[in-house]
Amino acid sequence: MAERHVVRLTVNGESVERLVEPRKTLADFLRQDVELTGTHLGCEHGVCGACTVLLDGDPVRSCLLFAVQADGARVGTVEGLAHDGLHPIQEAFHDHFALQCGYCTPGMLMTVHDLLQRSPSPTREEIRKALAGNICRCTGYHAIVDAVEAAAARLRAAPPREAAR
Ligand code: FES
Ligand code: FES
Repeated sequence: MAERHVVRLTVNGESVERLVEPRKTLADFLRQDVELTGTHLGCEHGVCGACTVLLDGDPVRSCLLFAVQADGARVGTVEGLAHDGLHPIQEAFHDHFALQCGYCTPGMLMTVHDLLQRSPSPTREEIRKALAGNICRCTGYHAIVDAVEAAAARLRAAPPREAAR
């Protein structure tokens, strides 16, 4: 039987404890062990950004981390964004047609969430720079940047209750 370790962390505000193999990635842990499949896997080697989650408030590639490395941490996934309806960032992506297949979208949303926490009024250049590590194969980035600008305006006007961080 493979060696296993206890991992205890907080995911979207909920305490989680699981026995995991040391080689299991945080992405696989979230998807398979915690059954939060909103975090997507694309390249699985740190390039596409689809697997982006928040670790103690900072965006990370969950395909590059082992679950055991997140022991004791706070993890925020896309499932933690919505409360009583979509999060303003999700609403803005919807309203501005900033997704097609949606495969990249959870990672985009988490990256944007981090950006708007740090920079509530980013320029279009800052938005493009923040999203440079999140690859979208179908939408093109213009609508995504439009959506982020709209989301920033909505968040400045009415900040939501946050649980993802
Ligand atoms: S799946 Fe992690 S960066 Fe592509
Ligand atoms: S919406 Fe399809 S990859 Fe971005």
